[in-house]
Amino acid sequence: MDDLKAKYLDAIGQAADETALEELRVQAVGKKGEISLKMRELGKMTPEERQVAGPALNALKDEINSALAAKKVALADAALDERLRTEWLDVTLPARDRRVGTVHPISQVWEECTAIFADMGFSVAEGPQIEEDWYNFDALNIPSHHPARAEMDTFYMHRAEGDDRPPHVLRTHTSPVQIRSMQAQGAPIRTISPGRVYRADYDQTHTPMFHQVEGLAIDRDISMANLKWVLEEFFSAYFGRSVKTRFRASHFPFTEPSAEVDIQCSWEGGTVKVGEGDDWLEVLGSGMVHPKVLAAAGVDPEQWQGFAFGMGIDRIAMLKYGIPDLRAFFDSDLRWLRHYGFSALQVPTIRGGI
Ligand code: PHE
Repeated sequence: MDDLKAKYLDAIGQAADETALEELRVQAVGKKGEISLKMRELGKMTPEERQVAGPALNALKDEINSALAAKKVALADAALDERLRTEWLDVTLPARDRRVGTVHPISQVWEECTAIFADMGFSVAEGPQIEEDWYNFDALNIPSHHPARAEMDTFYMHRAEGDDRPPHVLRTHTSPVQIRSMQAQGAPIRTISPGRVYRADYDQTHTPMFHQVEGLAIDRDISMANLKWVLEEFFSAYFGRSVKTRFRASHFPFTEPSAEVDIQCSWEGGTVKVGEGDDWLEVLGSGMVHPKVLAAAGVDPEQWQGFAFGMGIDRIAMLKYGIPDLRAFFDSDLRWLRHYGFSALQVPTIRGGI
């Protein structure tokens, strides 16, 4: 028995893999294994012999079984170590970002605007693209007879005959989000609302769907001076250089006074460069929120005042990244996207894209 024990424990220790180990198990403790055969001989022994040999054989069998189990674990551990060693992967290597596509310039600029305004304390508010007529127009001081409604080339949602609920429209601007935000939060408030807007118009500089970012700041003593500072701060961060603005008196039903804002640019060499030269480019509409608009949104115009602006995201994306045709934004042409798109792994920041 001592010989058997030495033989098998030694062989188990030497076993190179699971197959060799399994062979040893069969040889030793399998049905016709050496130790199993010895156990069968117990029947031929005298009771005295059996009393000694029985427990000894059982102990031997147990010992070999546990040696087999221990070796099995050791082999599995070694195999895992070997796999970990050969399948080692350097997760700090740069990823192949082409594989995960590109970020559309609109999304990129949307994120850049959010980052810059967030840095100035503006939070993001959103509203529905299919908007109630009241939010898109009436609450913004554009009653039904107002010519601004016709000028906006509005898409009206179809209503079944006999359905006399007020109409819904595809929002023509992001200004209705002003109303929804003030209704929800009251004053003081400081929000931007980036989003899609719709107008029935199509040529090189107009698409039926485009993007705006609305700005709204209401407090007790906000003035046009704050508006000018915020916009200049925004454009300087966005274009990465100091950008002058020019305010031109204008008219919007929802602001009083109203101003269209131009940014400084040059057309030298046939391409537009922002932040230099003596030319001006119109980029947004703005003004002090009309008291009627505050009142419509449940904010007391005797106590609160502030500014609002609405800017074209597509427009400022074209300016910053030298994209000549607005329509190409929405053609879903992969070659265009690969050229103008951004790395999906590049997180926009207030200095993003500069
Ligand atoms: N909503 C206006 C437009 O779409 C822009 C604007 C917003 C003007 C806020 C003034 C104040 O043209």
